[in-house]
Amino acid sequence: MNIRENIPLSKLTTMRLGGPAKYVIDIEDESEIKEAYTFAKKHNLPTFILGGGANTIAKDEGFPGVILRYTKTGTTTKEEKSHYSITAQAGEPWDNVVAYACKQGLTGIEALSRIPGLSGAAPVQNIGAYGQDISQTIDHATAYDTKTQEFTTLTREDFGFSYRKSILNTVKKGRYFITSITLNLHQGQMQRPFYNSIEAYIEANKITDFSPQSIRQIVSQIRADKLPDPTTTPSAGSFFKNIYLTENEAKDAEAKGIPVHHGHDGFKINSGWLIEQSGLKGKLLHGIRVNDKAALVLINESATSYQDLEKARTEIINTIKTKFGYQLEQEPVEL
Ligand code: EPU
Repeated sequence: MNIRENIPLSKLTTMRLGGPAKYVIDIEDESEIKEAYTFAKKHNLPTFILGGGANTIAKDEGFPGVILRYTKTGTTTKEEKSHYSITAQAGEPWDNVVAYACKQGLTGIEALSRIPGLSGAAPVQNIGAYGQDISQTIDHATAYDTKTQEFTTLTREDFGFSYRKSILNTVKKGRYFITSITLNLHQGQMQRPFYNSIEAYIEANKITDFSPQSIRQIVSQIRADKLPDPTTTPSAGSFFKNIYLTENEAKDAEAKGIPVHHGHDGFKINSGWLIEQSGLKGKLLHGIRVNDKAALVLINESATSYQDLEKARTEIINTIKTKFGYQLEQEPVEL
């Protein structure tokens, strides 16, 4: 267990904002988790579990408590009767798991290629892209339950998944410390029709190979063309969620001329479209750039504080509210 004091959160989050955390503890193994929580309790400090910091926004005042990070890595495969079971330690970068699965010809997470962050964080916000999300393939996770102080198993049902949500970022926030995730994958490939942008890409590039490796390459290319790489360009990926509607709300939106996507997961308005239509795409607001290729993504170009981000966010939210009457919701977690 490695305890450090007074660590700038701007160094631990990809948005590169935020003041100091009082303590940061890197936990190398299951055996150290209890000790880390005991340390926080002894000092009467709150805790916060941080993964790769790719979906977390820190404030200027920092965090007056203990940031816990799990650094154990490793991924294994087990062949079962009907599927392959892949287990990744929570500290393993998510994209390594995707690469590992694709190399074995396993389908189920190939569309989730290049999503930044660690495996342990993947189910917390039910990461999703290009028609897949982790709720479709996760079997279970192992976790330390801070309430009972025992290790436990969380099944897919336990997670209560929905769009960008699970119990871990809603009703049971902070209760479980995930140590590994196990996914059920299969030999094979994704079935058409694929997500629009994948279909457009294969059409334009005359691609006929839809193996996991090939889809991984396609998704990697689409992402590289549209999304900033958070390791070099400060960002937290999509900064706003898309808007899910009931059937009646969808009818109202369409009557107003707003395109509604009718997907397997319900009726959706692309918030990126709303931002683009408002003329904000590509704009620089208080040092925050609305990405000119994917308007849902905000880039910290020259913001010096969380306050700058807050001003930019308020401006975008108010503009959309005034123009369309919808309330945009932030996607990354606030520390
Ligand atoms: N659109 C616009 N203008 C834009 C952006 C999007 O009009 O600037 C419209 C277009 O109609 C486009 C559609 O929105 O076809 C969908 O856009 P895109 O495929 O770029 O996806 P998104 O809805 O903006 C979501 C996820 C991304 C994920 C992509 C691909 C959320 C909050 N974001 O974005 O996830 O990679 O779909 O599946 O659901 C993330 O969460 O950090 C993230 C990058």
